[in-house]
Amino acid sequence: MTVARGGRLKNDPSAAMQALNTSVDVDQRLWREDIRGSIAHAQGLARAGVISKEDAVTLERGLKQVASEIEQGTFAWDASKEDVHMNIEARLTEIVGAVGGKLHTGRSRNDQVATDLRLWVRAEATSVLQEIQNLAQAIVARAQGEIETLMPAYTHLQRAQPSRLSHHLLAWQELLFRDHQRLLDALVRLNECPLGSGAVAGTGFPLDRVAVAKDLGFTGPTRNSIDATGSRDFLMEVAASLAILGVHLSRIGEELVIWSSLEFGFVALSDQYSTSSSMMPQKKNPDVAELIRGKAARAIGDLTSLLVLEKSLAFGYGRELQEDKVPIFSLIDGALVSLRALAGAIATLTFNADKMRAALNQGHLCATDLADFLVRKGMPFRQAHHLVGELVRAAESKGVQLHELDDATLSAASVLLSDARSSGAFDPALAVERRDLFGGPARKQVLLQIDDALKRWKENAVLVKSKLGAG
Ligand code: ARG
Repeated sequence: MTVARGGRLKNDPSAAMQALNTSVDVDQRLWREDIRGSIAHAQGLARAGVISKEDAVTLERGLKQVASEIEQGTFAWDASKEDVHMNIEARLTEIVGAVGGKLHTGRSRNDQVATDLRLWVRAEATSVLQEIQNLAQAIVARAQGEIETLMPAYTHLQRAQPSRLSHHLLAWQELLFRDHQRLLDALVRLNECPLGSGAVAGTGFPLDRVAVAKDLGFTGPTRNSIDATGSRDFLMEVAASLAILGVHLSRIGEELVIWSSLEFGFVALSDQYSTSSSMMPQKKNPDVAELIRGKAARAIGDLTSLLVLEKSLAFGYGRELQEDKVPIFSLIDGALVSLRALAGAIATLTFNADKMRAALNQGHLCATDLADFLVRKGMPFRQAHHLVGELVRAAESKGVQLHELDDATLSAASVLLSDARSSGAFDPALAVERRDLFGGPARKQVLLQIDDALKRWKENAVLVKSKLGAG
């Protein structure tokens, strides 16, 4: 007879039902939170006078012993006891005797697992926040070091306008900054305690839900027992934040793949973050970036699983919610492993500044600046755009770059262009410096953004503490 079946069911479950029913191989990961929640619940029961102080002390001692057995690896997880909750309660009762049976007073596994999950996600996602910050800081450090490195900015992956590497790196950083805010925001919202909600409609015992919530580092108790036990949007929000983060890491990964190709040659990954081939001796592959793209694919699937899991759930707990754990565990694991590897790869890679600078000389990158030059002389932009477009076509047919056209051709196109070259309209370095406006790539602006980024990340660290407390 299994623990979770009680007296209602006479016969054991079929093997097929047991295989479907059991989740302990997955949810045993929640054991720390489960024991922490149980200790707070036992103390709450005693404070409310539902169990004696001595019983609470006994339960706490027993739960701590269970914890140390699990920690030491001597705990025997038993699939027939369904899940982490029943496994721990069963062992507790072996240790402390019948008093172990008092622990579940006024509680259901429905409010228990909802509490465990919130505790677990809060702790693990706080590590993700830290790793996002670490990666962002690694990127900002590279931006500082590469402040003089010029490179093209791309649209459609075609060279578009002259820019600087540190400006590009700060674009990566901006994504991460928003990822951090989004995840923190989700964590603040989930930081409420379901205990006391019972199976669905609370409990008749006079539990002090506020005190238990406080014991567990929550800001307060959840406000509705039906919602608290049967909703997982707190997981969806974290999952959505992590899936978006995954997409962002994947985009950065994609750039590293492209940039490390022989065709681009903008970066060389360090050996530490490269792999070779089992067949081709010459190979140095950017697997770090490709695996991160792969983790993002999983993250998107995990988010989808969580969304679909709940879409047809009537109010109140449904057993399919048990399937929420695999995706959220996978999301957190994927985020942590990706963030750490990417931070290391970025900190140790080498940028090829010469290659990046050289890329500015092919692709008529000064076309916009030449049009702007004409605009400054009074020509309407649309007309200037057309004129320069024709010059690019002329350059292409001659097999030269826009800046290589001779002065006679330029003057023939417009007298206004006679001093274009001497005025620096073709100089990519000057073109970057002309983009001297907030959010632009001029040296001064990028230095400003670097300072601002450092300041914002410092503030973020404080924000996490103030919003989530000690946990
Ligand atoms: N293992 C279950 C889960 O993760 C615990 C709650 C079970 N509740 C129930 N009514 N069977 O969702």
